[in-house]
Amino acid sequence: MILKVSRLGNPVLRGVAREVAPQKIGDRDFQRLLDDMVETMHEYEGVGLAAPQIHVPLRVAVLEVAQHPRYPEMAPIPLTYLINPVVTPVDEHTIEDWEGCLSVPELRGLVPRYKSVRVSALGREGDKLDFVATDFHARVVQHETDHLNGMVYLDRMKDLRSLSYLLEWHRYALSEPPARKTGSTKAGRR
Ligand code: NI
Repeated sequence: MILKVSRLGNPVLRGVAREVAPQKIGDRDFQRLLDDMVETMHEYEGVGLAAPQIHVPLRVAVLEVAQHPRYPEMAPIPLTYLINPVVTPVDEHTIEDWEGCLSVPELRGLVPRYKSVRVSALGREGDKLDFVATDFHARVVQHETDHLNGMVYLDRMKDLRSLSYLLEWHRYALSEPPARKTGSTKAGRR
Protein backbone atom coordinates (compact mmCIF):
# COMPACT_ATOMS: atom_id res chain seq x y z
CA MET A 1 0.00 0.00 0.00
CA ILE A 2 1.27 3.46 -0.86
CA LEU A 3 1.45 5.57 2.28
CA LYS A 4 1.22 9.28 2.81
CA VAL A 5 4.60 10.96 3.26
CA SER A 6 5.04 13.33 6.19
CA ARG A 7 6.33 16.78 5.35
CA LEU A 8 8.55 19.23 7.19
CA GLY A 9 6.63 20.73 10.10
CA ASN A 10 5.09 17.41 11.12
CA PRO A 11 6.50 16.63 14.59
CA VAL A 12 7.02 12.97 13.60
CA LEU A 13 10.03 14.14 11.55
CA ARG A 14 11.60 15.81 14.59
CA GLY A 15 11.27 13.05 17.17
CA VAL A 16 13.79 10.33 17.96
CA ALA A 17 12.43 7.06 16.57
CA ARG A 18 12.17 3.96 18.80
CA GLU A 19 14.15 0.76 18.41
CA VAL A 20 12.32 -2.21 16.93
CA ALA A 21 12.16 -5.22 19.25
CA PRO A 22 14.00 -7.94 17.26
CA GLN A 23 11.34 -10.55 18.07
CA LYS A 24 8.75 -8.34 16.32
CA ILE A 25 10.57 -8.32 12.97
CA GLY A 26 8.85 -11.50 11.80
CA ASP A 27 5.37 -10.25 12.67
CA ARG A 28 2.98 -9.90 9.78
CA ASP A 29 2.23 -6.26 10.59
CA PHE A 30 5.89 -5.33 10.65
CA GLN A 31 6.62 -7.20 7.41
CA ARG A 32 3.69 -5.37 5.80
CA LEU A 33 5.15 -2.07 7.01
CA LEU A 34 8.40 -2.93 5.21
CA ASP A 35 6.48 -3.77 2.01
CA ASP A 36 4.54 -0.51 2.25
CA MET A 37 7.72 1.50 2.75
CA VAL A 38 9.25 0.00 -0.39
CA GLU A 39 6.07 0.58 -2.36
CA THR A 40 5.92 4.19 -1.17
CA MET A 41 9.60 4.77 -1.97
CA HIS A 42 9.06 3.42 -5.49
CA GLU A 43 5.88 5.43 -6.03
CA TYR A 44 7.64 8.71 -5.27
CA GLU A 45 10.88 7.69 -7.01
CA GLY A 46 12.88 8.04 -3.83
CA VAL A 47 16.23 6.33 -3.27
CA GLY A 48 15.49 5.84 0.40
CA LEU A 49 12.70 6.20 2.94
CA ALA A 50 12.71 6.25 6.73
CA ALA A 51 9.73 5.13 8.82
CA PRO A 52 9.11 8.60 10.38
CA GLN A 53 8.48 9.77 6.81
CA ILE A 54 5.39 7.57 6.76
CA HIS A 55 4.35 8.63 10.27
CA VAL A 56 5.81 5.58 12.02
CA PRO A 57 8.34 6.51 14.74
CA LEU A 58 10.45 3.35 14.49
CA ARG A 59 14.14 2.94 13.63
CA VAL A 60 13.61 1.49 10.17
CA ALA A 61 14.79 2.67 6.76
CA VAL A 62 14.77 1.23 3.26
CA LEU A 63 17.05 2.19 0.40
CA GLU A 64 17.44 1.21 -3.20
CA VAL A 65 18.94 2.62 -6.35
CA ALA A 66 18.28 0.36 -9.31
CA GLN A 67 18.52 2.06 -12.68
CA HIS A 68 16.82 5.12 -11.28
CA PRO A 69 14.80 6.73 -14.11
CA ARG A 70 16.08 10.22 -13.43
CA TYR A 71 19.62 9.30 -12.32
CA PRO A 72 20.80 6.49 -14.59
CA GLU A 73 24.44 7.42 -13.91
CA MET A 74 24.21 6.40 -10.25
CA ALA A 75 25.84 3.20 -9.12
CA PRO A 76 23.04 0.82 -8.14
CA ILE A 77 22.32 0.14 -4.48
CA PRO A 78 20.50 -3.14 -3.86
CA LEU A 79 17.20 -2.98 -1.97
CA THR A 80 18.28 -2.85 1.67
CA TYR A 81 16.24 -2.92 4.87
CA LEU A 82 17.94 -1.27 7.82
CA ILE A 83 16.36 -2.02 11.19
CA ASN A 84 17.92 -0.36 14.27
CA PRO A 85 20.89 0.83 12.19
CA VAL A 86 24.09 2.10 13.81
CA VAL A 87 26.25 4.24 11.53
CA THR A 88 29.88 5.06 12.28
CA PRO A 89 32.16 7.16 10.07
CA VAL A 90 35.17 5.23 8.76
CA ASP A 91 37.28 8.41 8.90
CA GLU A 92 36.82 12.17 8.92
CA HIS A 93 36.75 12.56 5.13
CA THR A 94 33.60 14.39 4.01
CA ILE A 95 32.15 15.25 0.60
CA GLU A 96 29.60 17.89 -0.25
CA ASP A 97 26.91 17.01 -2.77
CA TRP A 98 23.29 17.69 -3.60
CA GLU A 99 20.42 16.17 -1.66
CA GLY A 100 16.67 16.31 -1.74
CA CYS A 101 14.03 14.74 0.48
CA LEU A 102 10.48 13.49 -0.04
CA SER A 103 9.58 15.29 3.19
CA VAL A 104 11.07 18.57 1.96
CA PRO A 105 9.59 18.62 -1.53
CA GLU A 106 10.80 20.66 -4.47
CA LEU A 107 14.15 21.63 -2.94
CA ARG A 108 17.80 20.67 -3.36
CA GLY A 109 20.76 21.70 -1.26
CA LEU A 110 24.47 20.96 -0.87
CA VAL A 111 25.12 18.77 2.16
CA PRO A 112 28.46 17.57 3.58
CA ARG A 113 28.49 13.86 4.45
CA TYR A 114 31.12 11.33 5.49
CA LYS A 115 32.57 9.65 2.42
CA SER A 116 32.53 6.20 4.05
CA VAL A 117 30.50 4.84 6.90
CA ARG A 118 30.27 1.47 8.62
CA VAL A 119 26.68 0.27 8.95
CA SER A 120 25.45 -2.31 11.46
CA ALA A 121 21.76 -3.16 11.43
CA LEU A 122 19.24 -5.95 11.32
CA GLY A 123 17.83 -6.96 7.95
CA ARG A 124 14.34 -7.94 6.94
CA GLU A 125 14.62 -11.43 8.39
CA GLY A 126 16.30 -10.21 11.56
CA ASP A 127 19.65 -11.14 10.05
CA LYS A 128 22.73 -9.15 11.13
CA LEU A 129 24.01 -6.70 8.51
CA ASP A 130 27.47 -5.19 8.71
CA PHE A 131 28.92 -3.35 5.73
CA VAL A 132 30.84 -0.28 4.66
CA ALA A 133 29.01 2.16 2.38
CA THR A 134 30.94 4.68 0.30
CA ASP A 135 30.14 7.83 -1.68
CA PHE A 136 26.49 8.06 -2.80
CA HIS A 137 25.58 4.89 -0.91
CA ALA A 138 27.08 6.37 2.26
CA ARG A 139 25.19 9.60 1.62
CA VAL A 140 21.84 7.82 1.36
CA VAL A 141 22.53 5.85 4.54
CA GLN A 142 23.43 9.02 6.46
CA HIS A 143 20.41 10.89 5.11
CA GLU A 144 18.01 8.08 6.10
CA THR A 145 19.48 7.39 9.51
CA ASP A 146 19.36 11.13 10.29
CA HIS A 147 15.58 10.85 9.87
CA LEU A 148 15.56 8.33 12.73
CA ASN A 149 17.13 10.97 14.97
CA GLY A 150 14.75 13.76 14.05
CA MET A 151 17.08 15.42 11.58
CA VAL A 152 16.61 16.46 7.96
CA TYR A 153 19.32 17.38 5.45
CA LEU A 154 18.70 21.10 5.94
CA ASP A 155 20.12 20.74 9.46
CA ARG A 156 23.39 19.44 7.98
CA MET A 157 23.91 22.16 5.40
CA LYS A 158 26.89 24.41 6.11
CA ASP A 159 25.48 27.22 4.02
CA LEU A 160 21.82 27.61 3.11
CA ARG A 161 22.67 29.69 0.06
CA SER A 162 22.87 26.62 -2.17
CA LEU A 163 19.22 25.81 -1.41
CA SER A 164 17.32 25.77 -4.72
CA TYR A 165 13.90 24.97 -6.03
CA LEU A 166 14.01 22.09 -8.50
CA LEU A 167 13.25 24.20 -11.53
CA GLU A 168 16.00 26.69 -10.70
CA TRP A 169 18.35 23.88 -9.67
CA HIS A 170 18.01 22.29 -13.10
CA ARG A 171 18.37 25.65 -14.77
CA TYR A 172 21.33 27.06 -12.82
CA ALA A 173 23.09 24.62 -10.49
CA LEU A 174 23.41 21.89 -13.11
CA SER A 175 24.67 24.28 -15.78
CA GLU A 176 27.59 25.61 -13.75
CA PRO A 177 31.06 24.81 -15.10
CA PRO A 178 32.80 21.70 -13.71
CA ALA A 179 35.31 23.81 -11.74
CA ARG A 180 32.74 24.25 -8.99
CA LYS A 181 33.10 22.54 -5.62
CA THR A 182 31.37 19.34 -6.58
CA GLY A 183 31.05 18.19 -10.15
CA SER A 184 28.35 15.69 -9.45
CA THR A 185 24.74 15.98 -10.47
CA LYS A 186 23.51 13.26 -8.17
CA ALA A 187 20.58 14.25 -6.02
CA GLY A 188 18.15 11.46 -5.29
CA ARG A 189 15.17 12.20 -3.11
CA ARG A 190 15.25 10.42 0.19
NI1 NI B 1 14.66 12.44 3.46
